[in-house]
This record gives sequence, structure tokens and C-alpha cells, in this order.
Amino acid sequence: MTDLLIRGRVLTFVEKPEGIDDIASYRYFEDGAVLVRGGKVADIGEHADVSRRAGPAVKVADHRPNLVLPGLIDTHLHFPQTQAIASYGAQLLEWLNTYIFVEEQKFREPEHAQFIAGRFMDELLSNGTTTAVAYCSVHPESVDAYFGAAEERGMLMIGGKVMMDRNAPDALRDTPQLGYDETKHLIGKWHGRGRAHYAISPRFAITSTPEQMEMSRALVAEHPECYVQTHLSENKDEIAFATSLYPDAKDYTDIYARYDLLTRKTLLGHCIYLSDREISVLAETGAVGTFCPTSNLFLGSGLFDRDRFDKLGARWSVATDVGAGTSFSMLETMDEAYKVLHLQGQRLSPLNSFYMMTLGNARALDLDGRIGSLHIGADADIVVLDSRAKPSMELRMRVAKNLAEELFILQTMGDDRSVAETYVAGKPMKHRASAQVVAAEA
Ligand code: GUN
Ligand code: FE
Repeated sequence: MTDLLIRGRVLTFVEKPEGIDDIASYRYFEDGAVLVRGGKVADIGEHADVSRRAGPAVKVADHRPNLVLPGLIDTHLHFPQTQAIASYGAQLLEWLNTYIFVEEQKFREPEHAQFIAGRFMDELLSNGTTTAVAYCSVHPESVDAYFGAAEERGMLMIGGKVMMDRNAPDALRDTPQLGYDETKHLIGKWHGRGRAHYAISPRFAITSTPEQMEMSRALVAEHPECYVQTHLSENKDEIAFATSLYPDAKDYTDIYARYDLLTRKTLLGHCIYLSDREISVLAETGAVGTFCPTSNLFLGSGLFDRDRFDKLGARWSVATDVGAGTSFSMLETMDEAYKVLHLQGQRLSPLNSFYMMTLGNARALDLDGRIGSLHIGADADIVVLDSRAKPSMELRMRVAKNLAEELFILQTMGDDRSVAETYVAGKPMKHRASAQVVAAEA
């Protein structure tokens, strides 16, 4: 396979940025290049150096003056809710019953699941997202469709069959035994096949009986290699209902803790109304709270308190939460994250936003080293961002003074139009037919 040299303004983080312009947190090459060989990053640096070391036998994708970054990562969304974005007028529990539990029933049909899975992956790629963590529906066929579509595209994806055995329509319920058996089978089939990672997925405490939580405990104990995903403390009515179903638990977090579901591989959607005690439990166990700003605003759920997570030493990540989330774009998601934090007197610097979408989320998944940064040996999942994609952005960019300001413009004004190209393991995927690959001059 021919090597590919991706040329542009290369930006990759090495550390979490501390100040507004922490230049030690990233590496930036104004005329930079990334050399891709066998789906991995083989070299990175100044274009002149990378090009000389690569030699003449290399294809070039010239993306100047665009930015070249690691592919974006989304740590929480729902693949069967792709057609349920923009469902009007309800908060969480009513929204689930009115719209979502109707929509997810369609995924019993493998053809429907396959159709949406393909469109879902293409939508992620169109938005520059190369890795995501998603819930599938209760139907094992939906998981086959999901990982099948990811495999076709070469994407590193994490996901799993939702388990739910109460407080949902008959057609969407499994049983403790069936949920266990199907999950077990799907782990055997998909986890570690190519780039697939399985996530054991009890939907949330409301839709799982104590018996199903016991089965989840067994699955997590038997499969420490898998992720775990569920929802926690998103909405006040949800919290009251969940804690009423588990009267012995100290609080909502304790429900999951009692079933040993909180580990470093656990992703907890939302985490809005947690007490200090609960956040400290996340800190101790290493479980990650996922901040889903567009979803939390859309469902009127509440505001994620990032500063309290940082103060108590708990891990957090960022995510779209489509279909309660209103966009597949991580740029638009970080735009809303900025506003949610701003409302609480908290700051999210542009460097920090871009760190979170890349290396920060990779670290939340313990996948740094493989994805989220462009170091030698990393998977060549890459996004190319155009800060002048819309006339209003072009005009705004004329007076931008530095890189941090450009990133802030991208996040505040950008969307999928700002994604010029998305590479998965070195292959251009956004415009598969019209890849901007030209033969290099010797
Ligand atoms: N809690 C349980 N299920 C869901 C879901 O599908 N979306 C959101 N936002 N919260 C949930
Ligand atoms: Fe969710």
C-alpha cells in the first residue's frame, strides 16, 4: 500500500491545556504534514522534514490552509435515535415514552437497522467524528447492523445492545436471562473483531429490575475488557423514580455502585444532579461522567457542573447524545458546552474544547495511545477543518489574531460544512469518490 502524506496546518494535543494559551499542551506545525503508512501515523512534523524522510514514492493530500487534527470522538449517543432528533416538547421520561420507545421498535427489522446504521456512520464521518460510543436498540440485529457498518468503513466504534426489562413497551423488553445471553453472544461475536469494542449497556436503573442489574454485574465481572454504559442523574423526575425503585440505595449513584457497575470503563450519561458524595464515588472508581450539552438543553434537563467534577477529581468527557442531542457535530456540541458552562460562571477555553474532542475523550476511554492524538504509531484517524467554510466565518477569520481565536470561531460558527475531509485509518471517507489525493511531484 502506498504511503499517504497529508499536508496542512497540523495540530495535536499532548496534554490538557491549563491556561487560555498553554502552548506546552499541543504541537502545531503551520506548514505541517502527517505521513500515513498501513493505517497508522508513520511520521509527523514540518512538511519539509516529513516529505524529505518519506522520499518520492508517496501520494500527497494537500489540505493547506486547512487544519489537520486527530479525528473527533463522541462518547455517548444512540444510534436508533438518528431519526428522532427534534422530537418536540417533552422532558426526559415523557420524551422516552412518546417518541423514543416508539422509534426504537423499528430496529427489530434488520433492513431498517442496516439502513440507519450506514447513514449513522456516514453522518458521524461527515461531522469529523471517527470514534463514537453508542447504544443500539434491545434487538441483537441492531448491534450486528451497527458493528457491520463500522467495520465496512474501518471505524473504531464502541457500542452494545441496550438491556431493559421493565418500564418500557413489551416489544422493547428483554428479560434478565435473555439480556445476559444476547449480550454474551454479541461480546463473543464483536468485541475485538477488527476495531470493534463492546459496551455492556443496561439503559438506566428505571428500565432494569434488580434481577437485570445482577445479570449486568455478572457480565461486567466476566468481561472486564468491555466498556459499560448507562445513564445517571439527568432529570429530577428520573432521579425520584429511580431512587424509589431502589429504596435501599443511598442515592442514584449508589444503585450502580451496589451492583459493581462503576469501573474505569464505565461511561455515565449526564450526571447533572450529583451530590459531592456521588461525584467522589465516580472519582474513586474512575467512572466517567459524560457531559451532553445539546441534549441537556433540548430536554430541559439541567446544567453539567464541570468545575465540581474537576475539584473532586472525577473524570468527565463530552458527547452529543443524539437523538436528545440535536446535532452529530462535536463542534456544535462544544459551542453549547461553552454556553452551559458560561451560564454557571465557568470557562471553557478553545484549546480545552479541542483537547476534549480529541485527546481528552480518548483518555476518558483509556484509548489514548491509539486515537485522539497524532503521534507516531497512532491510528491514522484524522479530521481536516476549514475555518472559512461559510461566508460569515470567512469574514470573521479575516480579523482572527491567533490559533486559539480560530479554534473558537470553528467551534462557535462551524458545523459539518467545516469538515473538509475525514480520514479513517488513513482512508478519506467524507468524499469517498472525490478524495483530494493527487500524485506528488518527485
Ligand atoms: N435515559 C435513559 N434512556 C435515555 C435516552 O435514550 N436518552 C437520554 N437522553 N436519556 C436517557
Ligand atoms: Fe443518552
